[in-house]
Order: sequence, then C-alpha cells, then structure tokens
Amino acid sequence: MSDTRANKRFRSQEWFDNPNNPGMTALYVERYQNQAFTRDEIQSGRPIIGIAQTGSDLSPCNKIHVFLMDRIKAGIRDGGGIPMEFPVHPIQETGKRPTAALDRNLAYLSLVEVLHGYPIDGVVLTTGCDKTTPAMLMGAATVDIPAIALNGGPMLDGWWQGKRAGSGTIVWESRRLLAEGRIDYDEFINRVCASAPSLGHCNTMGTASTMNAMAEALGMTLTGSSAIPAPFRERMAMAYETGKRIVGMVLDDLKPSDILTRESFENAIVVNAAIGGSTNAPPHLQAIARHAGVELDVKDWETVGFEVPLLVNMQPAGEYLGESFFRAGGVPAVMGELRKAGLIREGAMTASGRSMGENLQGWASLDAEVIRSVAQPMRPNAGFMVLSGNLFDSALMKTSVISEDFRARFLSHPGAEGIHEARAIVFEGPEDYHDRINDPELKIDENCILFIRNVGCVGYPGSAEVVNMQPPDALLKAGINHLPTVGDGRQSGTSESPSILNASPESVVGGGLALLQTGDMVRLDLNARRMDALVEDAEWQRRRAAWRPPELTHQTPWQELYRRHVGQLADGGCLELATAYQRVARNLPRD
Ligand code: FES
Ligand code: MG
Repeated sequence: MSDTRANKRFRSQEWFDNPNNPGMTALYVERYQNQAFTRDEIQSGRPIIGIAQTGSDLSPCNKIHVFLMDRIKAGIRDGGGIPMEFPVHPIQETGKRPTAALDRNLAYLSLVEVLHGYPIDGVVLTTGCDKTTPAMLMGAATVDIPAIALNGGPMLDGWWQGKRAGSGTIVWESRRLLAEGRIDYDEFINRVCASAPSLGHCNTMGTASTMNAMAEALGMTLTGSSAIPAPFRERMAMAYETGKRIVGMVLDDLKPSDILTRESFENAIVVNAAIGGSTNAPPHLQAIARHAGVELDVKDWETVGFEVPLLVNMQPAGEYLGESFFRAGGVPAVMGELRKAGLIREGAMTASGRSMGENLQGWASLDAEVIRSVAQPMRPNAGFMVLSGNLFDSALMKTSVISEDFRARFLSHPGAEGIHEARAIVFEGPEDYHDRINDPELKIDENCILFIRNVGCVGYPGSAEVVNMQPPDALLKAGINHLPTVGDGRQSGTSESPSILNASPESVVGGGLALLQTGDMVRLDLNARRMDALVEDAEWQRRRAAWRPPELTHQTPWQELYRRHVGQLADGGCLELATAYQRVARNLPRD
C-alpha cells in the first residue's frame, strides 16, 4: 500500500470515526456493532464497500447474486475492505406491471439516496435483468463514488425438441404458432418455460445481455465479466475478483466520472451494433450519459454505430445463446475483433485501472461461428437508423433484424429501394390493438403499417414494450410474419421485429403521432431516414389545432410523480430534475 493510500481518510470515517462529534459517532458505531462488526474493525480506517443487492424472490433474473454474495464479500475482505450488503428496489422485467421501465428511475433514485446518505466508500453494483443495469449505473454516475458492476450472468441455454429455445425470442415465435392454430395453450407454456433452465437472466441477446455488455464496453466491469453464464464456476470467481477490485478502486479514488466519458459511450455504441444489441440500449445509455454529464445525442447512435457490422451470431439477430457466446470469448472477444479493425477507442479508462486498449490485449474470437471477424461479419451496417419526419423528431430502427424477406416485401419500392408507402392502421394502446387487430373492417393487408400510440414514458406510464405488433391471424396464416410497425413505446430486446420505435416526442405530449388517423397514407424512406404522414398541410394544422391532451389516470403516487418529471425516450426517459444533480458525493450530508 502506497503512502497516499495509507494516509487516505474515507467518507465512511465521517460517520464511524469522528472525534469532533463523539455523540453522533457513538450512535453510528454502536448500531453497526450490534450485527457483529467489532469496534476495532469498524474504526480500522478500512473502506466500507456497499453491495447493492438486486436479487430477491421477486427478481429471479438477479437471484444468483444472493448466492454470489459470499464470494463478493470474500473478495472485498481479501482486498482490505469491509462489505455491507443492502437491498435495491426490485425491478423484474416480466413480472412488474404496468412495466418495469417505471421502476428504473425509482431504483435509481433510491440508490442515489443510499449511496449519498450512508457510510459507503465504494460500491459493487449487482446487475442482470434489463433495467437493473442502467438503474445501478445511473445512480453510481450521479453519486460518483468508486463503483464496479457485476452481472449475475445469463441462464444456461434453453432447449425445446432438439433446438435452442431462447428467452423471449421463443415467445414471439410461439405466439405466431398459437395464432395459426399449430400449437395449443399447454404447448405454448411448455415451449416458453423450456427457455429458462437455470438461474440467470435472459439467455438471448435481449436487453439484459445487451445492457451488461454495455456496462463492460463502458469500462464499468472487469474484463470478461458480463457474458459468464450464471451457474458457471467462472461466475463465482468473477464475483470474488470484482469484490477485491473495488477496494483498489476506492484506494485509487477511481470514480465513474473517470470511466464514463464520451469515448467510453462511443465504445458502447459500437459494441451494441456488433452484438446485435437491444433497441432499449439507446434510452438507457442516454440516461447514464446524462447523469454522468456526458454529451450524447440520440443521433450519435447512427453516426457512431450504423456502419458497424454485426459480429455476434446470437438470437434474436442470429442463432446461438449465452453459453456459446461465453465460450467464443464474450464481450472482450467482440471488442478484440473490433479493435483489430480500429473501431475501439482504446484510451478509455476502465474499472481495472487500465485503459480499454490494455485490457483487450490478446483478446480475439475463439469461435468464428459465434463471433465473426469484422472482415467476415454476419452482416454489414448493423447499427440503428435514426429516423425523423412529421410524426416524430426521432425514432429508431434496428437494422440487424431485418430479414431478406421483409426487405424484399416492404423496402423494395419499384425503382426506389428502401421506400415504402402504405395505409396507416392506428391503435390507441395494447388493449385497443388486441381488441381490433383481427377486425375485418380494418382491411389490414400487406400494404399497411401498424401504429401504436399512448405507450411512451408519460402515456403508458413508463413506456411499454408493445411496438412489435403481430399481424392479423389471416396474414400470419398466409405466411406474412411481420408488417412494418411504428410506435412511441419500445419493444423487447428479444424481439426480431424490425419496428420503428421509441418515437419521441410521444403522442400524449403532442408528438406528431397524435395527429395520425387510420387510413392516412404514410411514406417510409429509409435512404432519407424519414417517415412522414402524407397529409395535406392545412389538414395537418387543423388536426393540430383540434388536438387535446388525453386525461391520464394514475394508479399509484409514483406513477403520478414519474409522469410529472419524466422526459422522452430520445433523452433517456430520465427524471429531468435529477439530471441537474451531478457528483453529489462531493458534498457530505449533514449529521
Ligand atoms: Fe429479466 Fe429477461 S426478463 S432478464
Ligand atoms: Mg423487456
């Protein structure tokens, strides 16, 4: 230990060892002693390391962390710190109604309050299920004490009748089979359950694997941390190493503000394209960037990421699942391949205390079937397109999941590749969609685009994963699995649907989507990155003047608070007022 390290006074000592305030110090020490910490230990001048526990019975995707806790704590002890585990508000993607997205900002808020208000010098952020990762990183960015992320890892691969059954992706496929009458209710449930064979989060490249890859690409984990399947011994070893490392980060005062820079966000955008990552990554990364005070615009996703090729052959954009991805080398192997092609910002600092370029030395794909090289990718130009027009200022399209069939059907306008004109069918939300999608009156055919609105951050509330709407049963039976879909909500990262989503501003705050009517013609021009309703200007203005915001019904106090303060998906869906609070650990709270 160097002198500067030995002489360091930690913020926790303001609680536990402050002779200027014996009254409060005694109170802090006595109560933490009663759970078997000794006075010597707690006043030893060793850093207190919080462990933000996101696993619980309500959060099965993250429950592995309950079993990893011994290893994390052992690492912290061996590193010279004192571990203190604390619970995080649960955020479970599939279990929380109306949507787990509502809880990301709530868990963020409470993490900020815990890290600021308790004697914590550094923190291990346990991550896994979709929103747990951004919530933890957003909180760490706002507080800015040393922090490191530890993913719980994906489940083992699921199998159904000799084929890989991937989380979420099997749901979308099975729904179509159910609608076509090819399977029944029991088989539907059994197929989906086959995709979840162990503890861990979704085993596809859905939002969970994506966001944990993002944490690693940002430099907020140890190298190779994010892709290890939950039950593997390497996961336990990584828990130990992560615990050990956070103590070093505290001693070196290596903070999120040193790691979360413009360069590291550009690395994350590049990696997201290469892994075929979720369309949920942009709003989550925007949110982390805003809380870290880093300039990032939704358009950066196209300018930085669009031309990056798809390297990872993993569902929903490819074939394999988490076990194969890990064995092929995981995120550092992908980044190693990107680095060889000069696509990685090598100078970005990371949690290891070394630069990203140093961490990636020697890393390359171990299995070219699962992780391709940049020279021989799955497909070129795999990043997001960012569209605009009179229906929205921005919306995203994930190009890595556009099938050849879809491209031929919808994006090959005679004489103009990438242009599609179609009749709009507008739904007011998922209930309206389910009620009317098979209504023959709507005359939905191949030449229609399905729209859904009122499902953004304010509208839903929280923004719902409902934009990947399935075509009517009659079209499915005719072999048309996808129609173009558009909406102000999101879609699951496990969906292979080429939707246009995250439209901002959303309809309930007066975005152009609010003015669209069923029967309007709409033009999608991918080359110009535009989507416009082909409605006469005067008529559009008339509709604008007649538009009134819908009455919103809140069911809980948080829904009301959230709606009052949330921004748009293009800006990360943050609590806008919270973005003004930066590096709050600089100011200690009062006694
Ligand atoms: Fe939790 Fe997918 S539902 S990780
Ligand atoms: Mg989801």
